[in-house]
Amino acid sequence: MIRLHDVKEADVKGKRVLLRADFNVPLRDGEVAEDFRIRKTLPTINWLREQGARIAIVSHLGRPKGKAVPELSLRPVAGRLGELLGQRVPLVPDCIGDAVAEAVEGMQPGDVILLENVRFHLEEEKNDEAFARALAEPFDLYVNDAFAVCHRAHASTVGVTRFLRPYAGFLLQEEVRVLLKVRDDPDRPYYLLIGGKKAKDKLGVLEELLPKVDGILIGGGAAFTFLKAQGYEIGRSVLEEELLPKVREIAERASQGDVFLLLPRDVVVARELSDSAETAVVPVDRIPPDAMGLDIGPETVRAFAEKLREAATVVWAGPMGAFEYRPFSRGTEAIAKALAEAPGFTVVGGGETGEAVIQLGLEDRFGHLSTGGGATLAFLQGKPMPALEPLMVGGLF
Ligand code: 3PG
Repeated sequence: MIRLHDVKEADVKGKRVLLRADFNVPLRDGEVAEDFRIRKTLPTINWLREQGARIAIVSHLGRPKGKAVPELSLRPVAGRLGELLGQRVPLVPDCIGDAVAEAVEGMQPGDVILLENVRFHLEEEKNDEAFARALAEPFDLYVNDAFAVCHRAHASTVGVTRFLRPYAGFLLQEEVRVLLKVRDDPDRPYYLLIGGKKAKDKLGVLEELLPKVDGILIGGGAAFTFLKAQGYEIGRSVLEEELLPKVREIAERASQGDVFLLLPRDVVVARELSDSAETAVVPVDRIPPDAMGLDIGPETVRAFAEKLREAATVVWAGPMGAFEYRPFSRGTEAIAKALAEAPGFTVVGGGETGEAVIQLGLEDRFGHLSTGGGATLAFLQGKPMPALEPLMVGGLF
């Protein structure tokens, strides 16, 4: 049982609150392309407003590596947040120093301001103590609602709690509650559905979750190294040669542990990755030498969907193909729809998978659409979550 210091226990009336949110959202042409993470933070922001708190939100956007990169300014986010709240949200041009102190000084109860990208300072990712102190300086208390970055020990997620009393926001509490059940007491059978461009990004998760799950289904670019390891010729599909020994070992461990490993049976191939590519569906033992597999085929969709229907718990991380290109989006769409109708409890990891689900209008059809990508997978693997530790009542977990 984990108890977090609930923000509802805090006396926030009239207080100056530093709220850590994860507004690391996709941008397109200088606009917020997808606002799921912003919308999910609204209950905490609105509750704080209703209590008459003065709210300054701190977030990162992208990986500017300590430089003020104009394309990674949070300005578009301030605009979108203002629309959602129905009140103007000024963007303060920095997250520390006089600009922040002055902005906070001028705030009325219920006002919301957004501080500029905290990763414009190199000290953020170093969890630098002086920087954390400067972040905390103008405020009375700290609320963390940024579950998606809780696997990072940064100044705005960990360091700042040395100077301000920390509380957990509603989104963070909900993420922890749901994912804890899946991590520690999943209903069975429990299947892991893995996709995404590369096997490299998912091998750690596969290795860690292998002893915990009953079955693994692999699609996306990640599948081709597994197919190659089984002796298939994969043409020009993505191959991560250096991973072959590890992939073989995982397949071996799965069979010893009685965990099924389901790979694609057919794939959509093309000679180029574009919206106008000519495509064909071929069985995995007939991939032409000059073609790339870029999506799972209909036979695979059927086989995966059938398996997923029998699961009591499914964790899905990574699209089934290059879904951002129309000719290769069908596998991901079909699997998203199948999962939306599956009777088990389905957790969708954020990032690209979440985007695909939202684009398809299926956002409310899953047990839990997580705002976290890396954080969700880290949590489910039982990895340390440094930013959760200061929020816990009575010790570490
Ligand atoms: C995410 O998008 O997963 C989080 O915002 C964390 O981002 P990061 O991987 O750049 O730390």
